[in-house]
Amino acid sequence: MENNKKWWQNAVVYQIYPRSFQDSNGDGIGDLNGIIQRLDYLEDLGINAIWLSPVCKSPQDDNGYDISDYQDIDPMFGSLDDMERLIAEAKKRNIRIMMDLVLNHSSDEHRWFLEAKKSKDNPYHDYYVWRDGKEGELPNDMRACFGGPAWEWVPELGQYYFHQFSVKQPDLNWENPKLRREIYDMILWWMDKGASGFRLDVIDQIAKEPDQKITCNGPRLHEFLRELSKETFRKGDLITVGEAWGSNTELAKLYSNPDGSEFSMVFQFEHIGLDQQEGKEKWDLAPLPFLKLKEILGRWQQALYGCGWNSLFWNNHDLPRIVSRWGNDGEYRVESAKMMGTLLHGMQGTPYIYQGEELGMTNVKYDIEEYRDIETCNMYKERIAAGYDKEDVMKSIYAKSRDNARTPMQWDSSENAGFTTGTPWIKVNPNYTTINAASQVNDPDSIFSYYKKLVHLRKEYAVFVDGRFTMLLPEDENIFAYTRENEDSKLVVVCNFFDKMLPMPLKEEVEGMELLLGNYGEAMEAEILQPYEARMYLKK
Ligand code: NOJ
Repeated sequence: MENNKKWWQNAVVYQIYPRSFQDSNGDGIGDLNGIIQRLDYLEDLGINAIWLSPVCKSPQDDNGYDISDYQDIDPMFGSLDDMERLIAEAKKRNIRIMMDLVLNHSSDEHRWFLEAKKSKDNPYHDYYVWRDGKEGELPNDMRACFGGPAWEWVPELGQYYFHQFSVKQPDLNWENPKLRREIYDMILWWMDKGASGFRLDVIDQIAKEPDQKITCNGPRLHEFLRELSKETFRKGDLITVGEAWGSNTELAKLYSNPDGSEFSMVFQFEHIGLDQQEGKEKWDLAPLPFLKLKEILGRWQQALYGCGWNSLFWNNHDLPRIVSRWGNDGEYRVESAKMMGTLLHGMQGTPYIYQGEELGMTNVKYDIEEYRDIETCNMYKERIAAGYDKEDVMKSIYAKSRDNARTPMQWDSSENAGFTTGTPWIKVNPNYTTINAASQVNDPDSIFSYYKKLVHLRKEYAVFVDGRFTMLLPEDENIFAYTRENEDSKLVVVCNFFDKMLPMPLKEEVEGMELLLGNYGEAMEAEILQPYEARMYLKK
């Protein structure tokens, strides 16, 4: 298929959470050599790029999102040589590697912070965000994302430092041009090593103004991003995606401006916050307002058409598994996993598949001692201390804990799901004996084979990449349907989002069109949409 789009607009990205993907040395933690062993699997799936969650040197307070050396690999994952080998081996299979850049904060064990803490005159002191004060009298009442105050006292200096995440993740001060230069040089070094792109962690939080309690979308944010892009990414043909919880469609047009002045695209989360009570935390559960989901996704499709670019995702390492969240991880696991895939991959944007999504991996229910995630563990302690009912707290954890996505990849039905020969750092989901890659790769009806088709269709038909989106049946409370149209062809996607039988609407709309893909195979009945049924029709 030929079109005038950039390579990353035609691409499908696969996210790997390295510590949970494949262990190669029996220490119970996934590593780079493990990823190399599994590249053939990824090539078979057909993806074009891998986004690697952080593998740089880190004390692992937040599983690598606390980096102590941006230019070295954490020994638990391997070495720089392994990284170079991974890049080369992936390249042989036409797969590019995207690194995860954590630029809002470093680890408190980074040499910059160790220096910064020595004295106020140290040249690195200003790489971080400090406020004078007195012990016990915090500069203000800002809270950190993982609980507790956003300020930490350093008695030797008589100052507080600012941290939006854990105490071990001090915020970097982007106002300092020397810091920015060091960051650019580091990125250029990775580009030189062969990185083909980057995902930028909480990038809309870098331009903070703590005195005004501004964390997201600070006044200098886009100025910083344009400089960052000019000094680094624009020197190569890269894919870049910013994580931007505070984005809206207007901001996304800046971030993903086709002139390349900032990024290729952003991850936006407007739909992701839908199943929580308004104004509360993600743990405060609420049913999914389906019409709102349609409204949001449809609006993003319309707003960025021709003047920006969407990312498409249901999952990542911070989010629960989509089949358990908005699909059905019981009777209709297979159908709903395929339906969610159809809905997403038919839209305009670059799709991201999170490891195990292509197998329909599900959430877990563990005892509290078995959770590893700092956010989950801190929240549990805070809420229990505040008098919440334990059962309710556990219910929230089952629904939303980040560990739902972080259990080891389920490769086969052997011990520990083929992930490790040692003791896994986090327990394997007990359902690995039935849900695993080995049982799916050669089964034409599996979720894996279905995802493979979705990935290939996007490469075969330009309309997947450039077709204009129109929502159909916007008021329908059960069905998510839309069209994509370009000059030559038209695609119609119809998805029953629930576990009930429905009469098939849109019969005229799809008349004379070819059924490209459906998740009921031979069992499909033209007049009825079965539970979680999904269909894609094409007119050439
Ligand atoms: C977002 C990352 O995705 C998450 O895993 C991490 O904890 C925070 N940023 C802090 O870096």
